[in-house]
Amino acid sequence: MEFKEKLKEYQIYINNKLEEYIDTIDCPEKKLNEAMRYSLLAGGKRIRPILMLATYELFKNNIEVCTPYFVAMEMVHNFSLIHDDLPAIDNDDLRHGVPTNHKAYGESTAILAGDGLLNYAYIVMSNDILKEYKEEKVKVLNEFSKEVYQMIIGEFVDIECEGKDISTKLLEYMHKNKTGALIKESVRMGAILAGAKDEELDILTKYAENIGLAFQIKDDILSEIGDEKVMGKPVHNDKEANKSTFVTKYGLDESINMLNKVIDESINILNDTFGNRCEFLIELAKYIRDREK
Ligand code: IPE
Ligand code: IPE
Ligand code: MG
Ligand code: MG
Repeated sequence: MEFKEKLKEYQIYINNKLEEYIDTIDCPEKKLNEAMRYSLLAGGKRIRPILMLATYELFKNNIEVCTPYFVAMEMVHNFSLIHDDLPAIDNDDLRHGVPTNHKAYGESTAILAGDGLLNYAYIVMSNDILKEYKEEKVKVLNEFSKEVYQMIIGEFVDIECEGKDISTKLLEYMHKNKTGALIKESVRMGAILAGAKDEELDILTKYAENIGLAFQIKDDILSEIGDEKVMGKPVHNDKEANKSTFVTKYGLDESINMLNKVIDESINILNDTFGNRCEFLIELAKYIRDREK
């Protein structure tokens, strides 16, 4: 199957599952429920779930095993976006081409909708473990919770570094955490759930660390030269907020060179071990490099 078709197929599968799970939330507070649903189903690229599923499929076919875990991942990712857009953090008005959660529902509801999604992720995963216990599921839950915490650390560093000329080391540390942590963990979760061997997990982790870094370098580039209409979120907002980004640190051309280098590395790492089997993950790395939104 063509890469684009397969990508679309994954996105449809993921969106259906997200809708199914969010609609099982039996919350008497309809506005809170609606605010959580609004952001979760607003139309993200679903990169993290896709990475989890495609990694799982390197080893096994029964992808439904991953469902509670990619649903949890996307819930947490959307919690992070709702809070990232808040006036106290990035103060952005547009996300996925529609008003940000606090613009649509008010600030207090947006904060609580984020909290709701974060907590619901753990309900979804632990329900699955209670239904059918497997040690690797507990390992995944444990790793996931640690990486979510790393993401929160990254967001904190991002805000702390506003307006400062930070070292390249600190910039990489920030990116590794705020964006890299969940991307890396998505790949690891798919591999662990599929019972990958330690050596395979190590290779996949290296691939994921590279694409995680690449993903944020590209995000910084798009914040500089992207098209707001295509991206559905503001451009030039990093500059306006005096953010430390790859573009402010290295300039646009050097950031593009670094992006290409990191993506090439991620492809070589995979090719050496998995050969033809990892074709989709290689195309996904290129998609992350070439994406316009
Ligand atoms: C945006 O992530 C925020 C970052 C971590 C850079 P995505 O670009 O994956 O967000 P959506 O869900 O596809 O909009
Ligand atoms: C968002 O980073 C990262 C997280 C939400 C964890 P950014 O602030 O750089 O991403 P956008 O540009 O708002 O999507
Ligand atoms: Mg931010
Ligand atoms: Mg932001």
